[in-house]
Amino acid sequence: MLFRLEAQHICLEWAFREIAGRPGIVFEMGLGHGRTYDHLRIHLPEREIYVLDREVDCFADCTPPENYLLLGDIEDTLAAAAIRFGGQVILAHADMGSYTQAHNIATSAKLSRRLPAVLSPNAIVLSDLPLDLAGTRSLPHPPGAPRDTYFLYVNGPHTPI
Ligand SMILES: C[S@@+](CC[C@H](N)C(=O)[O-])C[C@H]1O[C@@H](n2cnc3c(N)ncnc32)[C@H](O)[C@@H]1O
Repeated sequence: MLFRLEAQHICLEWAFREIAGRPGIVFEMGLGHGRTYDHLRIHLPEREIYVLDREVDCFADCTPPENYLLLGDIEDTLAAAAIRFGGQVILAHADMGSYTQAHNIATSAKLSRRLPAVLSPNAIVLSDLPLDLAGTRSLPHPPGAPRDTYFLYVNGPHTPI
């Protein structure tokens, strides 16, 4: 758990630098208690951050504005998002894993199926679950991030800005 949080923190810092200067919106998938959402909104104040979860069960002061909440099963919300936000997401962060292997396999499959349609060129995807995303390639961890606790992908060939 601590290694995963450490990896999440280092990978997010790296991603903030990677997307700087590139247009696009942010998807936070798995609101939970809202801790990562809070981190994102502090570090990316100029970005539109949409939050996807099946429920709102977070700290009161971490509740996203209603018009930035996409509520429902991730398979359905991402399918709908493909129409509204196709090709617009520059950073997608997913923290949707649980301690149940069957849930993790099913969630990885849903994200893998639906996420590619919303990604912009050079989009960065960070996930606590391994994904198989068409059009993306896996990236090595930034220095210092514990391995095998977080997974990084870039959409397309990743052209330097
Ligand atoms: C581990 S928590 C996220 C923790 C969050 N990063 C934080 O900082 O508090 C996982 C979240 O994923 C959501 N979730 C899991 N499976 C889902 C699914 N199939 N569709 C939508 N939301 C899902 C759960 O409702 C839960 O809020």
